[in-house]
Amino acid sequence: MSDRHPMTGNEMSGTAQGGLERHAYDVIVIGAGGSGLRAAIAAHEAGAKVGIVCKSLLGKAHTVMAEGGIAAAMGNRWPEDNWEVHFRDTMRGGKMLNNWRMAQLHAQEAPERVLELEDWGALFDRTEDGLISQRDFGGHKYARLAHVGDRTGLEMIRTLQQRTVQLGIDVFMECTVTDLLRADGAIAGAFGYWRETGRFVVFEAPAIVLATGGIGKSYKVTSNSWEYTGDGHALALRAGASLINMEFVQFHPTGMVWPPSVKGLLVTESVRGDGGILKNSEGKRFMFDYIPEFFKAETADTVEEADRWYDDKKNNRRPPELLPRDEVARAINSEIKAGRGSEHGGIYLDIASRRSPEFIRKRLPSMYHQFKELADVDITAEPMEIGPTCHYVMGGIEVDPDTELSAVRGLYAVGECSGGMHGSNRLGGNSLSDLLVFGRRAGEAAASYADGLGASRPAVAEADVQAASRAALAPFESEGGENPYTIQADLQQSMNDLVGIIRTAAELESSLAEIERFKERAAHMSVEGHRQYNPGWHLALDLKNMLLVSEAIAKAALARQESRGGHTRDDFPATDPEWGTKNLVVNLNAAGDGVDLAEKPLPVMPDELKRFFE
Ligand code: FUM
Repeated sequence: MSDRHPMTGNEMSGTAQGGLERHAYDVIVIGAGGSGLRAAIAAHEAGAKVGIVCKSLLGKAHTVMAEGGIAAAMGNRWPEDNWEVHFRDTMRGGKMLNNWRMAQLHAQEAPERVLELEDWGALFDRTEDGLISQRDFGGHKYARLAHVGDRTGLEMIRTLQQRTVQLGIDVFMECTVTDLLRADGAIAGAFGYWRETGRFVVFEAPAIVLATGGIGKSYKVTSNSWEYTGDGHALALRAGASLINMEFVQFHPTGMVWPPSVKGLLVTESVRGDGGILKNSEGKRFMFDYIPEFFKAETADTVEEADRWYDDKKNNRRPPELLPRDEVARAINSEIKAGRGSEHGGIYLDIASRRSPEFIRKRLPSMYHQFKELADVDITAEPMEIGPTCHYVMGGIEVDPDTELSAVRGLYAVGECSGGMHGSNRLGGNSLSDLLVFGRRAGEAAASYADGLGASRPAVAEADVQAASRAALAPFESEGGENPYTIQADLQQSMNDLVGIIRTAAELESSLAEIERFKERAAHMSVEGHRQYNPGWHLALDLKNMLLVSEAIAKAALARQESRGGHTRDDFPATDPEWGTKNLVVNLNAAGDGVDLAEKPLPVMPDELKRFFE
């Protein structure tokens, strides 16, 4: 038996009494953020029977933390904007390590996906002419982010969620998938448990779309909430897929630093896009000291020129506060390390002295309330204290750019848990558009694959279900061991300290040694109580994933002996052209308890696209 939505009758959660609950679908989507919902809608519209399984409540996703907007070259503010400029900006932002085909599809299709979202009911802010308003963001040549104040991700989720419910797509909420089930190497289904009752559930489906988001919870200071434990990354690895670019982790330059209870909470880049500037404890606008050679030609090097850009964006170079995130986060980190930080260990972000209170409250309503309620700071009158926060992982499941199919038949991946699109650094706003573009593509491809199988679908083997059930119950087996919370806290501290913004070989080696010790401790941890709502047990299962992805990040970071995008090596500070020709690929090792690395050449960009960089 399962709960049904009171209005629509769709399945919304499960409360099976006794026995093993089973459901059969053509396509199962794991994750209900922007990419998962968009994939489910596309698969449904392609005729598939679709179920969405999500760890949390529907609508609670990291998508809402992309506050500032959806990047799409619609040309509403600057008619000269087009997909080619967006493609170029994205590749440059990723320091040319992006999968060129993904970056091309993304830039070409994003405008259509935004308009479609509007057709489905999203209420965007408007220009004076009534078009969808677009704002400036780091690394984008033109104002390109379609937005809804500073709540764009929220509006996107609201719209997609409403459409999902309207279409009658089944949603299984508060249900965590712990294993992917295969037959002859192809996907046959997924095994999971209801968080409330602890009962197990099997989803039989020949096509699965992973849309589980990121890995932020491996770090102590993060904008991610509890769900983001690298589940999709780890499920895919264990099923035989590979990950790429795992060394690249994005530290958003601006997270809250005070009070401690909200440390890491996102402060949208829109504050800088709308005119905010960064200052150190000496009152200096320090970003002028950190303009890298790569972006010199397009970045203003005096305060006067930077300020003039707001009046005439076409003819002046952009303010250095709007450099890509990796550059800004490193600069802030350096200022804090040099002792020029703010009272609570951050730096100052000031929009109060540059924009009117009315402008700030209209364009940045969430930031206004967030600081007022949480820190007792009025951002229309005082600067904010901010510092870098782990926000996004560029690395993820390696997929075919057109279909999002992984190396495993029937397994697709989209959004943050997939890799390649953003190269070594993602531009702000490119995440929401990525979710829409590739969510749709994956949903269509998964539906078509399931349909093509006809009656010859891989069958779930009972022995695999038994094995998954034993693995899920393992944390109850040992007694008197450590609880998972202490291991998680130590892992988060260790990743923050040793695999953070700036890395060295010695620190990465220590991190890998520590991860081995955490694994050893996790092998003997115990959880108290029963299967009924038991957060300690849930964390014990998540921790397995966190340890695997943390190892992948640290190993890849140790191997890449250069600095590029979201990977800075103090001992290899230069960007090495040789490393610009290859990705690092991560696979599960033969013992199944860790990861191996391999190098893989980047796909070759066709000449008609190369010309944009000449
Ligand atoms: O700063 C922000 O609003 C975040 C946007 C993003 O990560 O794309």
